[in-house]
Amino acid sequence: MSDRAPSKPQEQGKRARVRGTPKGRQVDPKAREEIQALLKGSPRRRDLLIEYLHRIQDRYGHLSAAHLVALADEMKLAMTEVYEVATFYHHFDVVKEGEAAPPAITVRVCDSIACDIAGAHELTAKLPGILGKDVRVLHAPCIGRCESAPAAVVGQNPLPHATVEKIAALVKARAVKHPAPGSRESHPHKDIVSPAYVDYADYRAKGGYALAKSCIDGAKKRADVIAVMENSGLRGLGGAGFPAGRKWKSVAAEPAPRLMAINIDEGEPGTFKDRFYLERDPHRFVEGALIAAWAVDIAEIYMYLRDEYHGCRAILEKEIAALQANPPCKLPPIHLRRGAGAYICGEESAMIESIEGKRGMPRLRPPYVAQVGLFSRPTLEHNMETLHWVREILERGADWFASQGRNGRKGLRSFSVSGRVKKPGVHLAPAGITVKELIAEHCGGMLDGHAFYAYLPGGASGGILPAAMGDIPLDFDTLNQYGCFIGSAAIVIFSDEDRATTAAKNLIKFFSEESCGQCTPCRVGTAKALKLIEKKKWDQPLLKELSQAMMDASICGLGQAAPNPVLSVMKYFPNEIT
Ligand SMILES: Cc1cc2nc3c(=O)[nH]c(=O)nc-3n(C[C@H](O)[C@H](O)[C@H](O)COP(=O)(O)O)c2cc1C
Ligand code: SF4
Ligand code: FES
Repeated sequence: MSDRAPSKPQEQGKRARVRGTPKGRQVDPKAREEIQALLKGSPRRRDLLIEYLHRIQDRYGHLSAAHLVALADEMKLAMTEVYEVATFYHHFDVVKEGEAAPPAITVRVCDSIACDIAGAHELTAKLPGILGKDVRVLHAPCIGRCESAPAAVVGQNPLPHATVEKIAALVKARAVKHPAPGSRESHPHKDIVSPAYVDYADYRAKGGYALAKSCIDGAKKRADVIAVMENSGLRGLGGAGFPAGRKWKSVAAEPAPRLMAINIDEGEPGTFKDRFYLERDPHRFVEGALIAAWAVDIAEIYMYLRDEYHGCRAILEKEIAALQANPPCKLPPIHLRRGAGAYICGEESAMIESIEGKRGMPRLRPPYVAQVGLFSRPTLEHNMETLHWVREILERGADWFASQGRNGRKGLRSFSVSGRVKKPGVHLAPAGITVKELIAEHCGGMLDGHAFYAYLPGGASGGILPAAMGDIPLDFDTLNQYGCFIGSAAIVIFSDEDRATTAAKNLIKFFSEESCGQCTPCRVGTAKALKLIEKKKWDQPLLKELSQAMMDASICGLGQAAPNPVLSVMKYFPNEIT
């Protein structure tokens, strides 16, 4: 079947270990040829491993054992290193020798919380019978289209407001590619998947990059720009809310060379604000990144984009190329990296591991990524939306941003709202707005026939609150006393048709499936919690003890926050569990 590559003459007869030859596996010559063709002209660098796995998956629809052996050999990596990375990510289909490859078309149906309450499970139940065995139907975690739930993806073609008929039509038309922005082509149902956007020429014509140029060309002082950022009160919008200006200052104090890592993983169920801005105004955050890179004296910029955002990837590839072809000023190298389906890679140190071509397993801290981050260099890591605001804050002044806000809070928040409201979507509103105000002023009220019952104030991780607690200002810090947090400002609205216990099961199942498995309290705790809450009567003392262990002993925020929905139900919805 397959032949081991012939040894070089000088090695024959020796028992010397051949460096980089995968142990116990033989390289199939045809697979080697195919891998060499896919990697033609590309460096055999370890950090590009995930990119190369994507090339194989995109070209062949799966990762065969022969291709993985050939890739390991080509990259001089141990087979286990390639295998452990390939099997970590949901979007890679590793096919062992003798196993059948998956069907050519895969339909992923999101069954995270907003899609769950919009009927996703009916789709996953009905589709296999209708589409037949030549199409694979998988359930998937949030794909960042919660405002048009239930959402599905046919190949790489996202489908808002999915129905069995729409999915079947896309499959029949073999429409598996993401449509071009603003186009309705490749969508028999004429859904607009992503709108037309402000491209490089438009952005520059409207004054874009003038600010970055003035910084980089020396017209502004670094300390002044950092001071404006600090005074604006802008906090990181990826979830943790660390003050942006302070982060710039602390990374700038670390030794050069420094790197920047931009987090566009957006995996928190209910969150889709980064996609919203990327699909409309992609250069705004790039300009913010260039300004931050100048202020902190960053050598290179890495962007990590979740794999689900195929349309955004096409936009970014095109627009970064346009920027680099005709730069307004000197640019640092900009690298765009593709995730591969793993919620945990949004956690900052896991993301760095993934950019380095490894499994996305969070690192133990200290050291923090600001000190020892990407490729062991001090790293400024930011959520994409945090950088989106840099230009406007510097142009309009710190006071402009700080003077926004309500109920004693400062700034603006891009709320991703989904669930039982008339107008779900990204709503830019004052920080500190309450959920009741958000529903009334921005979301057109509740859906007809639905009464407000409960809400998630911060995606899957931020806990669950009853409607009676709908007057709490939504912002960083304001929800902590209730065992909740705002995180990435993903608000999911439930009505009297929903149950907090049902939501908690969905959320814990998500955490259990997305735990990286590295630490026991999280790996075992999420699975155990799920079993306990699936019972009719909850063992509350045991659930409390388990939650405490998870919060105290998990390495990262996933395991620490995973018990929040369960604790919220016990505290605020006792009527549902007794
Ligand atoms: C489990 C987990 C998932 C996360 N997912 C994301 C994400 O998808 N996007 C993001 O920007 N931050 C995410 N974060 C927060 C990041 O760790 C980090 O705080 C953030 O990227 C820093 O940027 P910022 O200061 O601009 O918010 C996540 C954190 C945890 C614990
Ligand atoms: S808490 Fe969970 S996700 Fe985080 S490192 Fe531990 S096992 Fe992995
Ligand atoms: S797309 Fe389904 S919950 Fe987000």
